[in-house]
Amino acid sequence: KITKVHAREVLDSRGNPTVEAEITLNNQFTGRAISPSGASTGEKEAMELRDNDKTRYQGKGVSKAVSNVNTIIANALVGKEILLQNDIDALMISLDGTPNKSNLGANGILAVSIAYAKASAAFNNIPLYRQFRNQSTYTMPVPCMNVINGGRHADNNIDFQEFMIAPHNAPNFKESIRMGEEVFHTLKDILKGKGYYTGVGDEGGFAPNLKSNEEAVDVILEAITKAGFTPGKDVSLCLDPATSEMWNNGKYKFFKSSKEQKTSEEMIGLWESWTSQYPIVLLEDGLGENDWKGWQQLTERLGNKIELVGDDIFCTNPKILKEGIDQKIGNSVLIKLNQIGTVTETLETIDLAYKNNYNCFISHRSGETEDTTIADLTMAVGAGHLKTGSGCRSERVSKFNQLLRIEEELGGAAKFAGIKAFK
Ligand code: PGA
Ligand code: ZN
Repeated sequence: KITKVHAREVLDSRGNPTVEAEITLNNQFTGRAISPSGASTGEKEAMELRDNDKTRYQGKGVSKAVSNVNTIIANALVGKEILLQNDIDALMISLDGTPNKSNLGANGILAVSIAYAKASAAFNNIPLYRQFRNQSTYTMPVPCMNVINGGRHADNNIDFQEFMIAPHNAPNFKESIRMGEEVFHTLKDILKGKGYYTGVGDEGGFAPNLKSNEEAVDVILEAITKAGFTPGKDVSLCLDPATSEMWNNGKYKFFKSSKEQKTSEEMIGLWESWTSQYPIVLLEDGLGENDWKGWQQLTERLGNKIELVGDDIFCTNPKILKEGIDQKIGNSVLIKLNQIGTVTETLETIDLAYKNNYNCFISHRSGETEDTTIADLTMAVGAGHLKTGSGCRSERVSKFNQLLRIEEELGGAAKFAGIKAFK
């Protein structure tokens, strides 16, 4: 039986309140989970319910979402026989009754959904990744580490949000982490040497004021080489410029390095030039969520060359992804559990992607916590790559640490995905 459902207000990595939920089965098996929170959110994401009570946490409290779990959801679940994840999630979706979970709040619903998966894993005495998907073989992912932060994630002059390194030429996950960290620390030395600030942004990447967006790529390539690796062969680049944030009256407006504006066509030109100049293997949100025509063009021109990931445009939503697939938008989908709000719907989106030969890129949010669920989800579905921040800050590296544990537990049975992880 489900014997306990309890939520509380805890804090995320930016010091904002978020929802933690605990589920207990048979008075014995407990799962606990915390919802993350984004800053550059897609318009069609499931709704994060905030109190908007300016007397607490500048309006960011989540006491309503917490109380919805402790009353409405708890009343519906406590005392019930142990159900399947699908049934629990379907029940919460119907209790909420809205398409975007705005009634009960996706932050509360997701915390319960994941906590239920963890409690079930404890009940079944299996690791969480097996609870999500019991596979005969598993693949260790390439950790895409966001070593320079800009955009909405840092108060510097870089427009593009994320500059990631992908240490793919490694025999295993453990070694890929070592490579990534060596590049990360070398990058710090290089920035320091050039007189740049080495404080970090929301996702733990450095957040210097640089001369241009291009300089971010140049210093990273310098760091890869200086750390003893070959750019492209050993370590490649992934970008998330998060361009929905730049979209303004049908154009892309640079809002930090300059006041320049570019058309969709010009942005595609910029990405063509960057991808021919630099060892870029993945581009996420190269165009904005409301620029579907541009996205089609971008996919036509670069879709055979690199992985084109849709984040804001798909919002981990199976219905929107379906439309995107029909319209030939991108070749990969970013997966963020809290964009859709339940484990079941997240897995549905992932299955839909694979069925249509799209990749899945599993992701944290800029507001994260010690919860490491995305590490297990990455393993469960064989995503082959994930992004969970840079090489520092525990809310980021906790996911790497969980993957190190899983790799050790699988004892070499799980092969490292390597460059094949990318489209
Ligand atoms: P967010 O950023 O969590 O602030 O939305 C992450 C991303 O854009 O991928
Ligand atoms: Zn993104």
